Amino acid sequence: MTTRGQNITLVDRHRSIMPSWMALYYSEPIQLIRGEGRRVWDQDDRCYLDFFGGILTTMTGYAVPEVVNAIRDQADKMLHSSTLYLIESQIELAEKIADLSGIPGAKVFFTNSGSEANDTAFMLATSYRRSNQILAMRHSYHGRSFSTVSTTGTSTWSPSSLSPFNVSYVHGSYRYRSPFAHLSDEDYVNACVADLENVLDVATAGDVACLIAEPVQGVGGFGMPPDGMFGRFNEALKKRGILFISDEVQTGWGRTGDHFWGYQAHGFTPDIMTFAKGLGNGLAIGGVVARGEIMDCFRANSISTFGGNPLVARGALANLNYLEDHKLQENAAKQGQRFIEKLSALAEHTPAIGEVRGKGLMIGVEFVGDDGFTPNVDAVAKIMEETKALGLLVGRGGFYGNVIRMAPPLSVTEAEIDEGYDILERAIKAI
Ligand SMILES: Cc1ncc(COP(=O)(O)O)c(C=O)c1O
Repeated sequence: MTTRGQNITLVDRHRSIMPSWMALYYSEPIQLIRGEGRRVWDQDDRCYLDFFGGILTTMTGYAVPEVVNAIRDQADKMLHSSTLYLIESQIELAEKIADLSGIPGAKVFFTNSGSEANDTAFMLATSYRRSNQILAMRHSYHGRSFSTVSTTGTSTWSPSSLSPFNVSYVHGSYRYRSPFAHLSDEDYVNACVADLENVLDVATAGDVACLIAEPVQGVGGFGMPPDGMFGRFNEALKKRGILFISDEVQTGWGRTGDHFWGYQAHGFTPDIMTFAKGLGNGLAIGGVVARGEIMDCFRANSISTFGGNPLVARGALANLNYLEDHKLQENAAKQGQRFIEKLSALAEHTPAIGEVRGKGLMIGVEFVGDDGFTPNVDAVAKIMEETKALGLLVGRGGFYGNVIRMAPPLSVTEAEIDEGYDILERAIKAI
């Protein structure tokens, strides 16, 4: 657009009208216009292999006919009716999710986002336990709403210190820079359980409502504890009647490969679980699944006007059916293992890589400076630009911003993994 002889770009318009705290990727930001499978095209028709899927949200791929046709068919009939009326697709989706959740006697409530899902989980846990004390993990991220920024253990994503809760943060999820990092898996878990019990004794009034944890931390840079740690946490919590909320917004639907939900690597079942992102493949749908007596504990009415409306419920059902029919969890395990093995081999002769970690198609590469430990933010900024130039979209994360995050759609092929890896390797070598 040209105004008074000046060229105003879309980036200028974005920066003048959108909040300054809503950052864009890349020194020359791009607009993604269309997608197919695992590929997307920008405003100049440049094609990229997408290994970030709109923040782990494009789960089955772009323009999947089964999903698009379900949305189109529903859009022709009715977009919205509200929860005042029966919605068959919403009920069917809830039944399916309750069944998949592993939570006995589960009930489901749909929201529009992960933040709202966690908000609801907190409202349930604090009402059920009649306590406003919450435990959360350091380096966690649970959303952007008032209740979720105050339970997010990452100061760079927590713009307000005001909180409806008393929150205590415990160790465990991000091991690489933990004071317990040098310990074996078993000793690490023991140290984290001891820290949890100490926090409960020393820093709370005891009658805590819940602990919330991401089985693999998303925004935190795909940090994760040894398998089994959250099961040990749950044992300690259950001695005091404290509920466990598993935030599966990033880890759900088979993304971690070995399991359908991230919590399943820890040998226990949470009381409450939250989900969003991948379920709708881009449609705005999230939700909470909880034991029936917890879900039913509110003493007042509550609704979400849009949550699980006919359009998103139909699309999400089609997406979930596609995921199951095409065994995408198995694919995530297989392709993820291939990718992690290649990256681990690369790390052995690349001193700038401090750690390769992750599960299934949730893979982080942490970059360090010449001393082998200082977070190397500069390297990640350059790799972001270089991978873009070479045709690969990846994400960035970690408290210091020194982690490259990769989470392609779960339908990614072996050839695409190899192509993405080759681009990343070239980008790393170039810097
Ligand atoms: C683990 C986790 N929980 C909650 C959220 C918040 O979800 P939303 O952005 O849909 O509100 C996110 C978003 O990135 C997330 O990664």
